[in-house]
Amino acid sequence: MTWLITGGAGYIGAHVVRAMRDAGERTVVYDDLSTGVAERVPEGVPLVTGSTLDAGLLARTLTEHAVTGVVHLAGKKQVGESVDLPLHYYRENVEGLRVLLEAVTAASVRSFVFSSSAAVYGMPSGDQVTEETPCVPMSPYGETKLAGEWLVRATGRATGLSTASLRYFNVAGAATPELADVGVFNLVPMVFEKLTRGEPPRVFGDDYPTPDGTCVRDYIHVVDLAEAHVAAARALDASPGRDLTLNIGRGEGVSVRGMIDLINAATGHDRPPVTAPRRAGDPARVVASADRIREELGWKARYDVQDMITSAWAGWLLLHPRAARA
Ligand code: WQD
Repeated sequence: MTWLITGGAGYIGAHVVRAMRDAGERTVVYDDLSTGVAERVPEGVPLVTGSTLDAGLLARTLTEHAVTGVVHLAGKKQVGESVDLPLHYYRENVEGLRVLLEAVTAASVRSFVFSSSAAVYGMPSGDQVTEETPCVPMSPYGETKLAGEWLVRATGRATGLSTASLRYFNVAGAATPELADVGVFNLVPMVFEKLTRGEPPRVFGDDYPTPDGTCVRDYIHVVDLAEAHVAAARALDASPGRDLTLNIGRGEGVSVRGMIDLINAATGHDRPPVTAPRRAGDPARVVASADRIREELGWKARYDVQDMITSAWAGWLLLHPRAARA
């Protein structure tokens, strides 16, 4: 098997490449390097620089490397940006996927793993989100991921391609400091940034109907997430015609205030947060049911929130050495 990993030079993609390689799979990275970093691609893994909108390059890459499976992570992923640039998000995430699936079905590819998101659920109610929870995305980003799932599933049904859509919850952490997320778009790096500047972290709303009033999320270590891709890839290989839709989370909620307390403690700070206004569109609680992935793939998260914070902080210190003294 040779697996094409689109977006393999990105934060999550680079972890997937390593997990696949460590599991003995051959990989090729396909990335336009718009946010990806070539240095993240391990030695010995070919890097093809290009867009998923480039049908010709995709066709050549699939043939030249005799690709039999694809893990598709390439795409745009910022919720707020998608509200301002919906056409761009639909083009990159939906049209890019359509072009890729056309190339995939014309080549000898048997398996397709799609990077989806808990954003497909929108504002879910209830304690845990199962894969049967209705999908009502609240942003163009979430819409493109849901439309992507439909495209992938319909193509699988029509052509026999084995498919899996993996709905990521809140990803954090790093395998090594070099592989840490360099973006400051999510809670953990945003708190790191405030602490580094000597400012208090911000809690976006403390009057939610949750135990401490702050939003609750299901954080998942990127190494666990990457291993879930390996398990999904193996399952698709083993049973042609499979069609999986799976949450990837830990099934455990942590509040924003709880995360900030843990980050303060893990990084040697003692800076209580300040309350800022609610951020538009934030659901109070989004926690996965991780039952289906355990039953279908035998996968279970190994790392906890502490591991995510510690490993993410080690990466942060590499990029911001002065943070150690902040
Ligand atoms: C978590 C909580 C914030 C920063 C997003 C996407 C989702 C997925 C993961 C891609 C929220 C609060 C944050 C801060 C805060 N992305 N917060 N102070 O919004 O749960 O999920 O990223 O697939 O689709 O929606 O993640 O990390 O932005 O926020 O209080 O300084 O932390 O309001 O409640 P979110 P996040």
